[in-house]
Amino acid sequence: MRAVLSKTAGGPETLVVEDVLDPTPKAGEVVIEVKAVGINYPDTLIIEDKYQFRPERPFSPGAEVAGVVEAVGEGVKGVRKGDRVIAVPGWGGLVERLAVRAETVIPIPDAMSFEEAAALVMTYGTSYYALKDRAQLKAGETLLVLGAAGGVGAAAVELGKAMGARVVAAASTNDKVQFALEMGADNGLIYPSGPMDKAAQKELSGEFKLATGRDGADVVYDAVGGDYADPALRAMDWNGRYLVVGFPAGIPSLPLNLTLLKSVSVIGVFWGAAVMRDPKAHAANMAELMQMYADGKIKPRVSKTFPLEKAGEAIQALGDRQAMGKVVVTI
Ligand SMILES: NC(=O)c1ccc[n+]([C@@H]2O[C@H](COP(=O)([O-])OP(=O)(O)OC[C@H]3O[C@@H](n4cnc5c(N)ncnc54)[C@H](OP(=O)(O)O)[C@@H]3O)[C@@H](O)[C@H]2O)c1
Repeated sequence: MRAVLSKTAGGPETLVVEDVLDPTPKAGEVVIEVKAVGINYPDTLIIEDKYQFRPERPFSPGAEVAGVVEAVGEGVKGVRKGDRVIAVPGWGGLVERLAVRAETVIPIPDAMSFEEAAALVMTYGTSYYALKDRAQLKAGETLLVLGAAGGVGAAAVELGKAMGARVVAAASTNDKVQFALEMGADNGLIYPSGPMDKAAQKELSGEFKLATGRDGADVVYDAVGGDYADPALRAMDWNGRYLVVGFPAGIPSLPLNLTLLKSVSVIGVFWGAAVMRDPKAHAANMAELMQMYADGKIKPRVSKTFPLEKAGEAIQALGDRQAMGKVVVTI
């Protein structure tokens, strides 16, 4: 079978497509014929050895896949050949066939395409865990989403609305803000795309306050970091919750005096670790997300697809800040 491999640390241009041996299922495993692979920002980091996990080389990036069960190992119960399933191996997904533990696969509802299924778990899983379990977002609260047209950002916009919040979307271009408004955001603003000095940060904070209205945001969903964090923290309401999700724009330092003045909680979000520590809570969240999909409250937006041999270009699109919603590799 064909596999996209990282053999040396570096950008997407270092990835190669090679023939490797087909996997066979060990006891308790199933082999999935992969149809679609969701691309996430961590794919840009893992191939450069900049992610929390550093797999041994050669390895394939690709954290989440959707496909059809092709073979079932000894002792597997509840999963059958021909089932349409999602798997989230973390890496190893940009391949034609993948062996995973049977108990980790999630059935795909009939109405959901493989592309949507490959675009659902990491982004909506992360954002639902962040908004529901970590921030305890309530109906009627104001949610400010930074990077609102990106993968996790767009999911946060849609989930924020589904949870009854008033959602303000912030992103670096007019097209991205429009995209977030189409996802359901109530209000949107464009922020500068480059680094900001103190004056520009102060101005942005004023714009965040204006857009969130009243006394500021109850919850900030920050999947961007960098120079955007300080202005967002300054635009928070009393008892605000600041969600630390990701840092494509750089790891920021926050002035802690601001958290005291507004009684703000800064809350770390590490979805992957939370899933491993509490698989039951993750399964419950996934069931709720599938119900929201069935009810038409959420729908992953796949803005672009790439074939397997162009998987590097798909990853590059995220590194270049080009992607909106989700980018998916189809096989
Ligand atoms: N904490 C967790 O458990 C968890 C789980 C999944 C992902 N993440 C993290 O969340 C972040 C977003 O992931 P994603 O998959 O949603 O990525 P994505 O689709 O590429 O979105 C990232 C967004 O960040 C903004 N951005 C700002 N500066 C950027 C830069 N220099 N390069 C690229 N993007 C930049 C872009 O929006 P604008 O152009 O509008 O600014 C972009 O839409 C990543 O840091 C990822 O590692 C965290």
